[in-house]
Amino acid sequence: MKKIAVFASGSGSNFQAIVDVIQAGMLPAEISLLVCDQPGAFAIERAKANEVPCFIFKAKDFPSKADYEKEIAALLQDLNVDLIVLAGYMRLIGSTLLKVYEGRIVNIHPSMLPEFPGKDAIGQALAAKAKWTGVTIHFVDEGMDTGPIIVQERIRIAENETRESLQKKIQTIEHKLYPSILHMLLTQGEVTNEEKARTY
Ligand code: GRF
Repeated sequence: MKKIAVFASGSGSNFQAIVDVIQAGMLPAEISLLVCDQPGAFAIERAKANEVPCFIFKAKDFPSKADYEKEIAALLQDLNVDLIVLAGYMRLIGSTLLKVYEGRIVNIHPSMLPEFPGKDAIGQALAAKAKWTGVTIHFVDEGMDTGPIIVQERIRIAENETRESLQKKIQTIEHKLYPSILHMLLTQGEVTNEEKARTY
């Protein structure tokens, strides 16, 4: 059984979607740890309710990113975690974690990267009056939402679209797409083109 660690900073709805498919027996994986940098995040409540162990930290309690990442890397290695799954984790991954987990960190972002990287991608798309946006799942490198893309799904922005309605459309797709891509990565180690096509 493959082991994953989910990193989140906020509501954790993607974390919940992953928990749900595992509990439904549709993803042969175990969530060994939730890593959260926001002690008040709702993701922590979700983890507790589902008996997922948590590592909660405040970045400012550590002298540097390298220091907290060293601690996280040691925990993940002790737990034999195979894959790091970023789900609304609002920090850049630094070289300490990247070195240990190179090619084994994935992220989900609410836009068609390279469009609208960084914070508030939904707000950026609306402000740009874009007709389309989407969801991207990609491997993580040292950049901000720049690593190799695994899969993307396009979403039409309606004329009368609000932030709430667009967020809902995006989340509906995210909650299906992330578990299905994790399934492919964890059971086959890669995502083939035919499989990518099937997710659309
Ligand atoms: C998601 O939209 C994800 O794409 C982005 O942050 C959001 C996290 O939402 N990286 P949640 O905490 O999973 O509800």
